[in-house]
Amino acid sequence: MSEESYSLHLEDGKQVKLPVYPGTLGPKVVDIRKLYSQAGVFTFDPGFLATASCESKITFIDGEKGVLLYRGYPIEQLAEHSSHLEVCYLLMYGELPTAEQFAGFRESITRHTMIHEGLKNFYNGFRRDAHPMAVMVGVVGALSAFYHDSLDIHNPEHREISAHRLIAKMPTIAAWSYKFFHGQPFLYPSNKLGYAENFLRMTFGVPAEEYEVNPVVAKALDQIFILHADHEQNASTSTVRLAGSSGANPFACISAGIGTLWGPAHGGANEAVLKMLDQIGGIENVDTVIDRAEDADDPFRLMGFGHRVYKNFDPRAVIIRDACHKVLDSLGIDDPQLELAMRLEEKALKEDYFIERKLYPNVDFYSGIILKAIGIPTNMFTVMFALGRTVGWISHWMEMIKEKDSVIGRPRQLYTGPTERDYQPITSRR
Ligand code: SDX
Repeated sequence: MSEESYSLHLEDGKQVKLPVYPGTLGPKVVDIRKLYSQAGVFTFDPGFLATASCESKITFIDGEKGVLLYRGYPIEQLAEHSSHLEVCYLLMYGELPTAEQFAGFRESITRHTMIHEGLKNFYNGFRRDAHPMAVMVGVVGALSAFYHDSLDIHNPEHREISAHRLIAKMPTIAAWSYKFFHGQPFLYPSNKLGYAENFLRMTFGVPAEEYEVNPVVAKALDQIFILHADHEQNASTSTVRLAGSSGANPFACISAGIGTLWGPAHGGANEAVLKMLDQIGGIENVDTVIDRAEDADDPFRLMGFGHRVYKNFDPRAVIIRDACHKVLDSLGIDDPQLELAMRLEEKALKEDYFIERKLYPNVDFYSGIILKAIGIPTNMFTVMFALGRTVGWISHWMEMIKEKDSVIGRPRQLYTGPTERDYQPITSRR
């Protein structure tokens, strides 16, 4: 860490020196860990708009330039040339695998796609109309009840096998949440199929006939998983890190991340976008919708627009928008909602309201249109996001656990409640 520091001059004339550290990319950070002990004050940053919660080597985002790097590799290159499993290796281990390393990794993932037969029974405890994300939160958390042999988070082998199990089992758990919702029989994974292909067959296949994987659909889904794999310290990843800082097991931490992702301000936005497009109906309503989004008195927001970090195009949205045209053309689908989404984007990006606030389409704005085109129902969209993001959550969890000075996350607060007062018996209260 560098010798640079910032000085804080206090009211009593004292001066507190705060070390400043540079990253390899992005803003420097001011180390405030000794601020309270030396100055008796906290910093105040609800929502963490200007707070670096950790040091990380995994993903870099430049929100002003619309740049996203996984371990230094641009998302555009990975989306075009890589596969989700190769990106999983990259995010977890920090380097692209050699052919031999990748073969070993793929073999391990393939060997862990099945889930304990006892876990199948958990599905029957849910109502048939349970949201698939509710099932994911429950079943993924329940995995910790089946792997007592490998929950020592300080054991590198336990950490690795848990990571591989989660990456491998998420498609099975997700596909079965779809099957349960539709009352169809569960299909077991096939070791002959790739990652996205396996998910498609377990989701859309039926025992009565062979399932033919459409390569265009499989490629599009694999690319969706790559684009959702990681995104720095977003809300769900921060949840996983905070849960992990208490020493909780990885299955419980990932379940917490799934719960956070479900919110419509986060990963639930892809489902909210499709519901919004359904409600808007046709392009004749675009102007009215944009007016509502700009009206401070109207709680309506243009879902899939805006981002805490990107103040330029979300590079993932650009890739997905381009993929929309290719996938829909290839499948011979003419979806008016793609035209509607593009008209909304075109109109919004000309409005001062959106320009001043630097609101652009984010990853969720177009992803639902592709997911719908490949047959994924709307209530499974956020499950798809969770499936892709699992490796990001795990990679950050592993990075945090291995930190030498890892401490439990425990923020403080600005207290503005009542000062101390004495208890009053109920007979004397007014
Ligand atoms: C994801 O963090 C990540 O990296 C997340 C993610 C990932 O990969 O993990 O990228 C995935 O969660 C993408 C975001 C998906 N959510 C949505 O699309 C929901 C709609 N968007 C918003 O709710 C909002 O833009 C957020 C939550 C995404 C970001 O919120 P911020 O950064 O806290 O910004 P804000 O709510 O303070 O808004 C700033 C201004 C406000 O107006 P003013 O009070 O200044 O007048 O912009 C307005 C907001 O009202 N605004 C919007 C808007 N988003 C922000 N106005 C209309 N429509 C919108 N979508």
